[in-house]
Amino acid sequence: MAILITHIGELTTQDAGHAVLRDAAMVLEGERISWIGPASAAPAADTAYDAGGRAGLPGWVDSHTHLVFAGDRTAEFEARMAGESYAAGGIAVTVEATRAAGDYDLTRLLLARVAEAASGGTTYIETKTGYGLDVAHEARSARIAAGVVDEVTFLGAHLVPRGWDADAYTDLVCGPMLDAVRPFVRWADVFCETGAFTADQSRRVLAACAAAGLGLRVHGNQLGPGHGVALAVEFGAASVDHVNHLSDGDVDALAGTWHAGPGRPGTVATCLPACDLSTRQPFPPARRLLDAGVQIALASNCNPGTSYTSSMGFCVATSVLQMGLTVHEAVRAATYGGALALRRHVGDDADGRRAVGSLAVGHRADLQLLNAPSAAHLAYRPGMPLVHAVWKAGTRVR
Ligand code: NIG
Repeated sequence: MAILITHIGELTTQDAGHAVLRDAAMVLEGERISWIGPASAAPAADTAYDAGGRAGLPGWVDSHTHLVFAGDRTAEFEARMAGESYAAGGIAVTVEATRAAGDYDLTRLLLARVAEAASGGTTYIETKTGYGLDVAHEARSARIAAGVVDEVTFLGAHLVPRGWDADAYTDLVCGPMLDAVRPFVRWADVFCETGAFTADQSRRVLAACAAAGLGLRVHGNQLGPGHGVALAVEFGAASVDHVNHLSDGDVDALAGTWHAGPGRPGTVATCLPACDLSTRQPFPPARRLLDAGVQIALASNCNPGTSYTSSMGFCVATSVLQMGLTVHEAVRAATYGGALALRRHVGDDADGRRAVGSLAVGHRADLQLLNAPSAAHLAYRPGMPLVHAVWKAGTRVR
């Protein structure tokens, strides 16, 4: 069945030319886009939807979340707003609550969070383990996530659990835990930061996970300068996330990964502005990264400790208002940038997945319409409920 969506006042495609089309139309057929062009030239379809001049853009690609959790950390948030600084130790509170939750409750909580993200325009979402931190609970988190979200990342190396020696725990992550999660995950990540995993421990985790065939991501340079970016570059990670505290060398190293030429994507710098607000960290130097030639992504980092929001619209508005991005750059980072960070910016014949994060013939039909005439309203009217309609893989989900 073909659906024609017509009279899209401004259609931001993010395809090769990053084109913005006026008075455009699209045809969705099954899960794919089969036609895009001027509304005046649109072909006939089985049904038509009149966008009434509203703006259209790709659904958000949220490439960094931690959604498999139970429990509540409101008190920690309030203490932080009263002046305490963020300590990764709060992760242990969520680990305890997550381990105590049954499979049914954990799944229900995850489904509710993914539905909330979809209602905000997110059509492709990654999530991580990392609140299990033993073999059985990490495997359970990975299995539950694999049944719900688009991409799953193994983050056994999130925090050294209470009672463990850090090196012994790293051995567990690199051995039995990795084996147990392997069937459910495509990615591995490590929190390389003072108070979490050292550079050496992080290197061991990345090496073991790469050897197991997983793609790599790194939590790096979040709370202070560190080795996360250098390690991500050394291992050819798809993304290094947070990137708040970067040296000139870090920026140069990331830029260097983007010089290999077309078809060889480098390490994406993923910015998480909602987290930076909630932890009162400096924003990442997104302008500097872009000017150096680094591709950036914007993601929500939805998690109970540092960023309890999945609103990509909020992240886009914040990055424009606070990080010096133009609206077009921010929207690109939250769509195509996220897809690049997940290596889904192109289709994959091996697993039959279509490209996401941009609108072009053959790509997955992930579209959102705003209750506004242009994408600029996302930052011009921050905090307003602008998402009007959402199609995910050709199906209307809102
Ligand atoms: O990305 N930085 C590490 N992990 C999360 C925080 C997790 C938590 O505090 O529960 C983050 O900010």
